[in-house]
Amino acid sequence: MPTAAAAPGVQRRWDELVRPEHVHGSLYTDPAIFQAELEKIWFRTWVYVGHESEVPNANDFVMKSIGPEPIIMTRDRSGQVHLLHNRCSHRGNRVCMTERGNARSFTCPYHGWTFSNDGALKGWPFPSGYEGVDRSEYGLGKVARVASYRGFVFGSMAAEGPSLEEHLGAAMKSIDALCDTSPEGEVEITAGFLKHKVKANWKFLVENETDGYHPSFVHASIFEVAQSGIGELYSAESTAVSRDFGNGHTENDLRPEFRKRDVPMSWFGTTADRLPEYTARMNAAYGEEKARKIMIDGTPHIMIYPNLFIAEIQIFVIQPLAVNESVQHVTALQFKGAPDLNRRMRQQTMGSVGPAGFLLADDAEMYERTQMGVQMRNPEWLFLGRGKHRERRDEDGFLIGDNTDEVPTRGIWRHYRSLMEAE
Ligand code: FES
Ligand SMILES: [Fe+2]
Repeated sequence: MPTAAAAPGVQRRWDELVRPEHVHGSLYTDPAIFQAELEKIWFRTWVYVGHESEVPNANDFVMKSIGPEPIIMTRDRSGQVHLLHNRCSHRGNRVCMTERGNARSFTCPYHGWTFSNDGALKGWPFPSGYEGVDRSEYGLGKVARVASYRGFVFGSMAAEGPSLEEHLGAAMKSIDALCDTSPEGEVEITAGFLKHKVKANWKFLVENETDGYHPSFVHASIFEVAQSGIGELYSAESTAVSRDFGNGHTENDLRPEFRKRDVPMSWFGTTADRLPEYTARMNAAYGEEKARKIMIDGTPHIMIYPNLFIAEIQIFVIQPLAVNESVQHVTALQFKGAPDLNRRMRQQTMGSVGPAGFLLADDAEMYERTQMGVQMRNPEWLFLGRGKHRERRDEDGFLIGDNTDEVPTRGIWRHYRSLMEAE
């Protein structure tokens, strides 16, 4: 394998680092590459920020982020959602230090400038010092574009570019399927977030979310204890498929296995009769036939590039902090009008990814070990060729492979390269 040209700075030939079946280890370790990613991915494309249900009332706000940068998601008096940079326009202090709350305005602690929750500068102390200065020029920075899809709020720091719908593409159908699991057609993000920090590059996390190859090994112990039947979904015999939706979005489509089982709620490791309230509401909302189909198929396992992972019963939001440091923000999904299901969602989430949960701890250990590994330069390259020979197209034209194949990983890197090569 020839050596990658290690050109100084960020003027790299991305095709020399990202090849169809190999990627160079420096992509996970080079701080200059990380800076380039912030510019070309995190501060340019659509990034998931938060959910409308996190700011349900007028004047609610919650602290969020885009990449390493803090963002305040607010709902103003009229109900409109804003994404504001948490940076005072005077000398750069943070104007908000509270995780969440309800406030019509934010007052900077340094010199007392006050901003309304739509970002406008309302006032500055000792105003005689600002004679002739136009207050309207000193509002908080706003994320250039804000759009939401079924309550999921995304921001793009670039004023121009593809629309959110164009960016999401086929992933919209997965969000639809997720929302349809609620008898009222809505997801709520109300269970509170856990934050897990790992000493690893963010791309390891993105790749891992739809890597159907590792669960049989990394999560063997939890599968055994829980007797959940999840392990079989990721075996070599599984009829589940991995899929590349394009635009970096990827999934493990587990529906073929659930349809084979033909048992409503088996995706959740239970049966419909143990959730009588939920089942009754689903039947009433969709009719028995459609409700049955929804309850067999279950919710998606999809990674929406670059940072939103919908993991059946949870969402994970990936945040890069540095080239070798990332945070995963995790919460149990809650479905509107489904209190009995929601209770179990929270319990299972605590069990699997809570402070004492195995699932995320197992993965975190792998991220950190791979991060240490890629600092070594012999061999320099990572191999992503699994299942290349059996890659195929589904009826919609998307690339699919066996559930253990590296179709998603290759798709992620193809998209990555196109973003990094763009002017
Ligand atoms: S830095 Fe915010 S008021 Fe001075
Ligand atoms: Fe995992």
